[in-house]
Parts: sequence; structure tokens; C-alpha cells
Amino acid sequence: MKRIVVLSGAGMSAESGISTFRDAGGLWEGHDVMEVASPEGFARNPALVQDFYNQRRRQLHEVKPNAGHSALVELEKFFEVSIVTQNVDDLHERAGSSHVLHLHGELRKVRSTGPTAAVFPWKEDLTPDDRCPDGFPLRPHIVWFGEEVPLLGPAAHITAQADVLIIVGTSMQVYPAAGLVHYKQPGVPLYFVDPNPAVVPDQYDSLEIIPEKAGAGLTTLAERLAYTRL
Ligand code: APR
Repeated sequence: MKRIVVLSGAGMSAESGISTFRDAGGLWEGHDVMEVASPEGFARNPALVQDFYNQRRRQLHEVKPNAGHSALVELEKFFEVSIVTQNVDDLHERAGSSHVLHLHGELRKVRSTGPTAAVFPWKEDLTPDDRCPDGFPLRPHIVWFGEEVPLLGPAAHITAQADVLIIVGTSMQVYPAAGLVHYKQPGVPLYFVDPNPAVVPDQYDSLEIIPEKAGAGLTTLAERLAYTRL
């Protein structure tokens, strides 16, 4: 079965009502990244950081997957579909996607700040008083700016195996995630779905830009790919 690899970003969840980071009114407009999404910020003011993620985690109770997520699930009828997402929401999983790798962590998980770095499912607010069974404070299981991206190797390996690569809803500004496109084999079709695409024609080999939102763009693309079994 041919393998489709999808690299998704915040634009994937925009039509579900979750703000992106760098669009007008985006998350980084109202917050200082280094204050709320860095280990230094967490050390300086853990309550501020916990509150930032608690608000985003609470929102997950109110949002649901959109047509773009469903289109990727539909593709699983015809292809092996592997999703590498920069998103920390669980919308791909809730839509029914079978293989989702979270490059930047997951809102609905927390991690011990102790040596075990044990990870736990966590759906409610996290407070500075919450402790791991080993007694250490808990932190959001999120990759913060300046931290290693532990799943980069597996993500690069998956991307290198793609028969088709779809990049959707990302401004391609954050590395190493944005560099994954370079693991695409020459000649493998690359579809870039974004109403304001961050790439230009001929920037990559075999590139087709689909200047649409994820919902409509992925639905049409999924129909094309299913029909041609490309
Ligand atoms: N459908 C598809 N794409 C959309 C939509 C939509 N409905 N709405 C906006 N977009 C596009 C924007 O045009 C933009 O290119 O989504 C992209 C969002 O870009 P960013 O806000 O920069 O989000 P992302 O690329 O995922 O950010 C990468 O930066 O702050 C860190 O860790 C954070 O994972 C995040 C990383």
C-alpha cells in the first residue's frame, strides 16, 4: 500500500476554532513566547506557564475535528497514512487517524520534572501543587523553545518513506520541523495546502500549491488521490 505522509501545523486546527500562532490575532500576539513556552519561563514563573497551557487544554473540551481531519482519515481506506504534526491538540486522533506523531508534544499529557521524565495522560488543569508519584512537580508534555525535539529522528525517517507528502497549515518558520520537507525523496509529489502558502512554485521539486483552507483543500485532494491511487 502506498504511504502518504502529512506534516500538519496550526492551520490544520484553525477551522476547529483553535488559534494559530502567527496569523493576525494568533497566540503569539498576546504572549511572550519566552515567558510561556520556554524552560526559562517555566523556572521563572511556573504558575504563568501552567495557566497558559491550562487555558489551551480547557479549550479542547469545546472543539472538535474539522473536515480536514476527516479527509485524512478517509485516505486511510486507500493508503498507509502517517501524520507528523506540530500541533499539541488531539484532533487528529479524535477524528480517527491511526498514526499520529507529535513533534512538539501533547496538551493532554504531562511529564515528571524528575529524572524518570515519566509521562501521564492529563485532561484537566495542572497546578504547581500537582505532583508525580515520584514526588516531583509535573510540567506540560510540550517541547518548549530551546528544547530538543525527541521525535525528530522518527519523523525524518517517516518523511523519507513517503510516496506522497502533504504539508498543511504551517508557516514553515520553526525548525527542525520546517526542515522535514528536505527528507522527501526526489520526484515524490509534494502538496502544500494553505490559504496563504509560505512556499513559492519551484521552491521544492514536484511541488503543487493548493491555496485553500485545510477543510476544503484536503477534502478535494483526498478525492483526487483516492481516485488516482497515486
Ligand atoms: N487552513 C490551512 N492553513 C491555515 C488556515 C486554515 N484554515 N488558517 C491559517 N492557516 C495557515 C497560515 O497561513 C499559516 O501558514 O496556517 C499557518 C499557521 O502558521 P503558524 O501560526 O506559524 O503555525 P505553525 O506553522 O504550526 O507553527 C509552528 O511554532 O510556535 C511554535 O510550537 C509552535 O508548533 C508551533 C510552531
